[in-house]
Parts: sequence; structure tokens; C-alpha cells
Amino acid sequence: MVGVLLLLLVMPASATAIGITCGSGRNYTANTTFQSSIAVLAATLPGNASSSPQLFATATAGVVRALALCRRDTVNTTACTDCLASSFKYAQKMCPNRKTGATVYYDYDEVNALQPGCILGFSGDAGFLGQASSVTGNGTFFQYWNTVNLPGNARVIATAVHELLNETARDAAAAPRRFATAFMDSIGGAAPTLYSLAQCTPDLSARDCLACLRRLVGTVNATNSVRMGGRIFVLRCNIRFEAFMFYDDKNTRRIPFSSPSSMAPAPAPAPTGKIYMPMIHKVPFFVRACMQTIQIYIWHMPMIHKTYS
Ligand SMILES: *[C@@H]1O[C@H](CO)[C@@H](O)[C@H](O)[C@H]1NC(C)=O
Ligand SMILES: *[C@@H]1O[C@H](CO)[C@@H](O)[C@H](O)[C@H]1NC(C)=O
Ligand SMILES: *[C@@H]1O[C@H](CO)[C@@H](O)[C@H](O)[C@H]1NC(C)=O
Ligand SMILES: *[C@@H]1O[C@H](CO)[C@@H](O)[C@H](O)[C@H]1NC(C)=O
Ligand SMILES: *[C@@H]1O[C@H](CO)[C@@H](O)[C@H](O)[C@H]1NC(C)=O
Ligand SMILES: *[C@@H]1O[C@H](CO)[C@@H](O)[C@H](O)[C@H]1NC(C)=O
Ligand SMILES: *[C@@H]1O[C@H](CO)[C@@H](O)[C@H](O)[C@H]1NC(C)=O
Repeated sequence: MVGVLLLLLVMPASATAIGITCGSGRNYTANTTFQSSIAVLAATLPGNASSSPQLFATATAGVVRALALCRRDTVNTTACTDCLASSFKYAQKMCPNRKTGATVYYDYDEVNALQPGCILGFSGDAGFLGQASSVTGNGTFFQYWNTVNLPGNARVIATAVHELLNETARDAAAAPRRFATAFMDSIGGAAPTLYSLAQCTPDLSARDCLACLRRLVGTVNATNSVRMGGRIFVLRCNIRFEAFMFYDDKNTRRIPFSSPSSMAPAPAPAPTGKIYMPMIHKVPFFVRACMQTIQIYIWHMPMIHKTYS
């Protein structure tokens, strides 16, 4: 049973949740142990995660299981704590009285690489943190796509995006921190440089991390693979790409596009957006951030408030 409720919200450019999935199980009543368990977790889990070297923590209080993860390139641990604390508040506001809890994908700041986001999930389901639910299940699945298309040959771009995401996923799974970033230079001249990021919770094996990320990449269809950016999450892994630099990672890797020369050029699709910003990565960060913020407002801001069983 999956109900999806689309909300169009105007949100400030920083400290916003980009996605939430609410559990659809039995409701708890205020003043029960379930609620006090959440309060215990909300009080200590954000600090515990941000003080761990991996910016990750799981915890159980009463019957409630919780997971907290900040983006691995976070340098400001206060921002990590704040992001997770805000996520607890937001989850309780958006999914009141849900016994099976909620998963929040929170972006501390859309465009500022020094204020990256976090993921918080909690649930009364005994299997919530288990492999089946958090790696291969769809209960915490969430995707968020830029509605603007990349300029250029759709088939070439789709291949390039898949290649970029495949390679980033492979790098993340192979890295002990289960995190990697990459970029691919302008494909065929028209498209901007694309930047990507993949992350798993650091407790996953390399194999499980790769399987988790591959499953997400596998959901990128022909429509989505030519978007100017997108993010796909489940509780234990996530992947993102953008046409602007959104991370702070000295180990980022350039991925060359192995352009298949045999590929017949497909007709270019009709342009769907007017806010194409060539060479945005060469613009100073401040200007870029402003432009990007404008672009983000032009996104349809799909706050998808999803219910899962
Ligand atoms: C739980 O509460 C929510 C929000 O108040 C409501 O939409 C939902 O139907 C309730 N679920 C059950 C199983 O009663
Ligand atoms: C709420 O909890 C308090 C203390 O835990 C208890 O004294 C009180 O009776 C509870 N109220 C209800 C309505 O359950
Ligand atoms: C946070 O860490 C403290 C100290 O290690 C521990 O006592 C507490 O249970 C932890 N809280 C959670 C929610 O894991
Ligand atoms: C760290 O993040 C907090 C927000 O949580 C912010 O107030 C503070 O200015 C940031 N510090 C630095 C050095 O960026
Ligand atoms: C889970 O998501 C994948 C990818 O979107 C889909 O192929 C699969 O059918 C979904 N499974 C269920 C049980 O909904
Ligand atoms: C990406 O990886 C999948 C397997 O995980 C493969 O089927 C696909 O062909 C790859 N795509 C590109 C463009 O490398
Ligand atoms: C691609 O997936 C999106 C949802 O993620 C869907 O709305 C769209 O119709 C799909 N496009 C194709 C070509 O399958």
C-alpha cells in the first residue's frame, strides 16, 4: 500500500527537507513510550552521529530503531547535528502519530557545499534497519528530479549520465568510507560539466553498498537520465548528480566519457527549459550559488510526502 501525496511548497533556500516518507502503520497516542523513545533518540542521536568519525550512528530506544547519517564531506559537525535535529522535528511535524516512523532526506543547504545534508530514519518496525527493508526494500525510496533537461543529444547524454553514476557508485562501494564524488566534463560541447556523489551508510559491506547503489541507478529511466540534476535515496544509500559543484571533496575523480563513436546521433529533443546556464562551474561560487538558487526555485519543488507500508 503506497499512497503518494504531492505538495507544492515554497521553501527557503537553506535548511529544507527535500523528501520524507511516513510509515503507514498503527498510530501511537501521545504520551506513550513510543513517543518518549523518539524524544530520547532526538536528544542524543544527532550529537552521537556528528561526533562519530563516520558521521553515522544507529540506536534503539524502546521499540524505536533509528539511523542518522550526515554527508561524508561535512566539515562542520555543528551543521551535522543541526541537520539531524531539524530532521527529527520535521518528521514529527509531517508524520504525526505514525507508529512506523519516518525517513527524512534533509538538505541543510541546497547549494552550499559547506552545509551539506543528512538522512534520518526511525521506525517502530523491528526490521527497519535490516537489509531487506533498508537496502532492498522500497519503503524508504525517494527521488527528486530537476525538471529542466540538459541541452544536447539525448542519447549521448543519457549514456554519459549512466556512466557517471555507474562509476561513482563503484568508487563509493570500493572506498572504506563508502562515499565518492566524481565529475564528467562537458559532453559534446553543449552540456555543462556534471558532478556526482554516491554514499552508503559506512556499516554496509562493499558488496551490499554496490548492490544498493546499482539498484538506484537502475531506476534512472530515459526521461530522468537527461535531467539537469537528480537525487535518489533509500535509507542506506543515495546518489545525486547536478550541473554544478555541490560537494567539498579533495578526492573527487574526473571520469572521462567513453563516447561510443559508433553511436548514431539521435535527434536533439525540443528544449524544455530556458534557464540553461553554460559554464556555470566557471563562475565564482557566490554568483553560482545565487544563480542556482534561482534555478532551484524554478524547479517544481516537488515535496513528495509519501506513505509506505
Ligand atoms: C494515523 O494518523 C494519520 C495522521 O493523523 C492518519 O492519516 C492515518 O490514517 C492514521 N493511521 C491509522 C492506521 O489509523
Ligand atoms: C502521561 O504520562 C504521565 C507520566 O508518564 C502519566 O502520569 C499520565 O497518566 C499519562 N497520561 C495519559 C493520558 O496516559
Ligand atoms: C549516545 O552516546 C552516549 C555515550 O556513548 C550513549 O550513552 C547514548 O546511549 C547514545 N545515544 C544514542 C541514542 O545512541
Ligand atoms: C556551522 O554550521 C552552523 C549551522 O549549523 C553555522 O551556524 C555555523 O556558522 C557553521 N560554521 C562554519 C564555520 O561554517
Ligand atoms: C521496488 O522498486 C523497484 C525499482 O523502482 C521496482 O522495480 C520494484 O518493482 C519495486 N518493488 C516493489 C515491491 O514495489
Ligand atoms: C551501468 O551499469 C549497469 C550495470 O550495473 C549496466 O547494465 C549499464 O550498461 C551501465 N551503463 C553504462 C552507460 O555504463
Ligand atoms: C521515468 O520515471 C518517472 C518516475 O520516476 C516517470 O514519471 C516517467 O514516466 C518514466 N519515464 C519513462 C520513459 O519511463
